Amino acid sequence: MRLESLKSCKQQEALVMFFDENQKALSPWPDPVVKDYLKIPLSQDFKGRFKESLLLYLPGHPVAKRLLLVGLGKLSDLSLQKVRVAGGQAAMQLSQRSVSAPSSFLVPRIGKFKVEEIVEALTIGCRVAQLNYNEWKSQGDGDKKANSKLLELGFVSAESSRSSKAAQSIERGKIIADGVNFGRRLIAMSPRQLNPIELARQAAEVARKSPSKSKIKAQIWTEKELKKNAYGGILCVAQGSDNPPRFVQLEYRNAAASKKPVILVGKGVTFDSGGLSLKPPSGQETMKYDMAGAGSVLAAFKIATDLKLKINLVCLIPCVENMPSGKAQRPGDVVTMANGLSVEVLNTDAEGRLILADALSHASKHYKPAAIVDVATLTGACALAVGDSAAGIFGNSPRLLKELQKAAEISGENVWPLPDFDDFFVELLTSEVADLRNIGKRREGGASTAALFLERFVNKDHPWVHLDIAGCGWYDSPRDMVSVRGPSGVPIRLLVEFLELYA
Ligand code: BES
Ligand code: MN
Ligand code: ZN
Repeated sequence: MRLESLKSCKQQEALVMFFDENQKALSPWPDPVVKDYLKIPLSQDFKGRFKESLLLYLPGHPVAKRLLLVGLGKLSDLSLQKVRVAGGQAAMQLSQRSVSAPSSFLVPRIGKFKVEEIVEALTIGCRVAQLNYNEWKSQGDGDKKANSKLLELGFVSAESSRSSKAAQSIERGKIIADGVNFGRRLIAMSPRQLNPIELARQAAEVARKSPSKSKIKAQIWTEKELKKNAYGGILCVAQGSDNPPRFVQLEYRNAAASKKPVILVGKGVTFDSGGLSLKPPSGQETMKYDMAGAGSVLAAFKIATDLKLKINLVCLIPCVENMPSGKAQRPGDVVTMANGLSVEVLNTDAEGRLILADALSHASKHYKPAAIVDVATLTGACALAVGDSAAGIFGNSPRLLKELQKAAEISGENVWPLPDFDDFFVELLTSEVADLRNIGKRREGGASTAALFLERFVNKDHPWVHLDIAGCGWYDSPRDMVSVRGPSGVPIRLLVEFLELYA
């Protein structure tokens, strides 16, 4: 894929043109006939506002059969996230009508962004927007395989001078988008199919199929190793399920051995029924996405290794299913965790922090990390507080928090800090019969108690951040680049931007 010149542009099924809010064309147009035609004010049908679009048919025209006008709105408010969304919107409009290739974006000229940035953003939006889950539907409406019929839009630009740089950005955009879609698809998989064994197998496959394969070491612990190492947090959650747990450890080394690794930890609960502290049916409906943290860190790992980033990266994923049964843990059980701390399990539905505790202990025990970032659909309280607009963010290092905030800004995937006052929350986790309890003594501030619980399992000298994605990990209806209800893919791109800061 590369940047085409205006002159070579002909016989397109569709061309996508961008406008600002004053109906001013930002894209160049190859043919003077249409150029004149577009000078006519477009009246009420199309203003050029952000998220606005209009499809025109150009019967018999030599350059293109269709012209899709897409609004970018006010240029002073324009961000790369909006460009991604606009690219997604264009792809949705065209793919819904089964428009085929060759179709192209007419690359808009926007003063504050480089051509490379724009084509990357459009590529990401275009591909992410086209993911659906029709592959799991029975025959009926044609295309079934995920991404098999992805409409690839080309790029046509007035400036050809920097086209090699732009071509690189397009490749980069593809790798990122395909990684995001890989993660979203994994998260959308039925929990009948994606159990802990399958999740671990998917992780091993990422390592095995990677172009950086020779630099990746994959280790998957089964119950045997978990028992031998007394990883009580993972084992106590898993014990209620007929599906055994796994603990995935991926190591990617592509920087000097002296360079400290970044460690990503993802909550991998393939289904959360709540265990004996059973959730009501409505609460269980979407709990296949309780492995969205795992899906996100695995997708970020895939993208980082596909992009061959010059970093040392570790990915840790505890995989369990949380079920009630005669073998399930009971409220009141006291469990010894991987780092030796004892925990009074008062609510079996607060299972995420139990498995993450072991993974975080593992990270602090076996590595000298530059940073540990955990990602988890941890608390309904966080979803209530911030909705699906942002991930709740907590951490022990102002510097690392800033780095993640920076990555959030670049990616357009938001984070929002929530309270972490020791004075308020530590007391709420004290137990009479163990080192700590797994739920706060009060419901209020539930996202904060969960985060402070996790902090107890991280070495104080290790910079650590916790992202609670209970709200932003799932979209109840189509939004931004996401054209279908389900996994949002947040915060995969945020993690990739963060890793690039280290590369
Ligand atoms: N996986 C849930 C959190 C969740 C809820 C994610 C809704 C997404 C949407 C987590 O394991 C859980 O059940 N947390 C409990 C904790 C409580 C028992 C302290 C919760 O939030 O209710
Ligand atoms: Mn739970
Ligand atoms: Zn959960």
